[in-house]
Amino acid sequence: MRLMTAEEVIADRSVPFFCYPDVFARHADQYLDIIKNIGLRGAYILQDDLARFESNLAVFLGAKHSLGVANATDGLHLALRAAGLRAGDEVILSSHTMIATAAAAHFAGGVPVPVECGSDHLIDPDAIAAAITPRTRFIMPTQLNGRTCRMDRIQALAEPHDLVIVEDAAQALGSRFKGRAAGTFGIAAAISFYPAKVLGCLGDGGTVVTSDDSMREKLLQLRDHGRASTGDIVSWGLNSRLDNLQAAILDFQLARYGEVMARRRAIAASYTEYLAEVDEVTLPPAPDSDPDHFDIYQNYEIEAERRDDLKQFLRDRGIGTLIQWGGQAIHQLKALGFTQSLPYTDRLFERLLMLPMNLSLSDDDVCYIAEQIRRFYGN
Ligand SMILES: Cc1ncc(COP(=O)(O)O)c(C=O)c1O
Repeated sequence: MRLMTAEEVIADRSVPFFCYPDVFARHADQYLDIIKNIGLRGAYILQDDLARFESNLAVFLGAKHSLGVANATDGLHLALRAAGLRAGDEVILSSHTMIATAAAAHFAGGVPVPVECGSDHLIDPDAIAAAITPRTRFIMPTQLNGRTCRMDRIQALAEPHDLVIVEDAAQALGSRFKGRAAGTFGIAAAISFYPAKVLGCLGDGGTVVTSDDSMREKLLQLRDHGRASTGDIVSWGLNSRLDNLQAAILDFQLARYGEVMARRRAIAASYTEYLAEVDEVTLPPAPDSDPDHFDIYQNYEIEAERRDDLKQFLRDRGIGTLIQWGGQAIHQLKALGFTQSLPYTDRLFERLLMLPMNLSLSDDDVCYIAEQIRRFYGN
């Protein structure tokens, strides 16, 4: 038998950016049991499994309420409406976020105002301060990549201007700042359960988190056709409910979430160990490098010199990487009418690259990815 050459071994190896079948395969037997159980009960919409998950999630976060919705985009939109957004209100958000954040502000009737992010890739509090006008009513910080913004600074900016904070915590379930969970700093927050999220369901799903009782009442109506608990229609509403089946699957995963966060943090620590000396890349902060932050590494987003060449080099070696948002920041979406000039974010977007960060990665995979990056830079 002929042994493979080193080049053939490389060509043979495949580390996809994300492996969607694994989301199901990891717990296939348990999920099939859950599906059977719910199907036989006919418990599809707004049933006990959803209520149980909502309650467990609220406890996990240290919030009063969590309300399942169809996805986090809807969750952000409904949260802004429930918080009283009026037509034309300006909503300050980071330009380094998903279009969903801005779309939620737009569809709630507001005007999204993208501002610069900082070297941590999160919204820059100084840029928020500079963007406040008499029409500003909301700040929507995105807790990006599984890291929570410096919320003390953002809260201090919001207070004197009476601005309402709605967090986009789509990527940050379990992330903490000064011991407090992402999703609990503003009047409400939305979290996503898209399959590639750290807590991901078998399709779309999301939740709105709030500790405000009147927000809860409004959100319960808004997500269910404007229906009150009496069954009467008392306001305009949408159909945006988290399926009972998805909630049961998420609840199963939530019970194991500690291990999942720990594994992702271990992968991040390995990337740091292997890549810290590579001058051409800037890595996310290592786990526990800052006592104020507990990061859950939804993404591992690096900055890289010659980013596009590196991406191609890794692709040729079977390694999938991704440039977040297809490489476009919000203010760069000219088709949507944005005119802001944000040079820091522009420069950053020429360098951003996400490395694989998920539970399918073996320790060897992480080592292999890092080895190839070092090789690319001649390290
Ligand atoms: C930062 C951010 N905001 C909002 C969303 C929207 O979440 P969903 O897909 O559940 O609507 C996402 C999802 O990818 C996200 O990453």
